[in-house]
Amino acid sequence: MDVDTAIRERRTIGVFSGQDVAAELVEELIDAARWAPNHKHTEPWRFHVVSGSAREEMANAILSAGGKFAKDPRGKLLRSPLFIAVTQQAVLDDPVRDQEDYAAVCCAVQNMMLAATARGLATKWSTGALAEHPAAKRWLGIGPDDRIVAYLYLGYPPETMRSLTAERRPAEVVWRS
Ligand SMILES: Cc1cc2nc3c(=O)[nH]c(=O)nc-3n(C[C@H](O)[C@H](O)[C@H](O)COP(=O)(O)O)c2cc1C
Repeated sequence: MDVDTAIRERRTIGVFSGQDVAAELVEELIDAARWAPNHKHTEPWRFHVVSGSAREEMANAILSAGGKFAKDPRGKLLRSPLFIAVTQQAVLDDPVRDQEDYAAVCCAVQNMMLAATARGLATKWSTGALAEHPAAKRWLGIGPDDRIVAYLYLGYPPETMRSLTAERRPAEVVWRS
């Protein structure tokens, strides 16, 4: 699949068939991620591949920590055969670099989603309360100020969802010459 097609055909899909994703495919997506642009070559991304019973371990760690986000996380973390938590180390003493690094990690996530689309895989990028949860960060082994930029849920789409259409507004563009 060429890149223009992948860009247009990629759709957020939050339900998955039961089919597992081969480790080689996961590695290919992560390899695509690391080619994302990143200022000063900081390569600020980290990838945590969570599958099988590890998904439940993480959900239980969050659940037993309770607190503000004590809603049962299993519905989300177990929705796909695996997910990749893509994280960024915080740069507390340099807010500009921190923002650049965040943007670079977002580019890396998009690379992964496009590479997944080209391989017939479905993805869903998710953030929200689970991405802020201190117990989620602890379980992943990242610092309290580090970011979970994405939970990238990954799997094969159910048969009925192989092609989803989507609409986008025409871009607002200002040309000056
Ligand atoms: C930074 C970011 C965070 C997102 N977080 C969530 C989320 O927490 N829950 C969710 O259902 N979708 C989330 N999404 C997916 C968007 O809702 C989705 O991309 C949007 O609906 C457009 O649909 P499409 O991806 O099929 O084009 C997120 C997307 C991005 C880029």
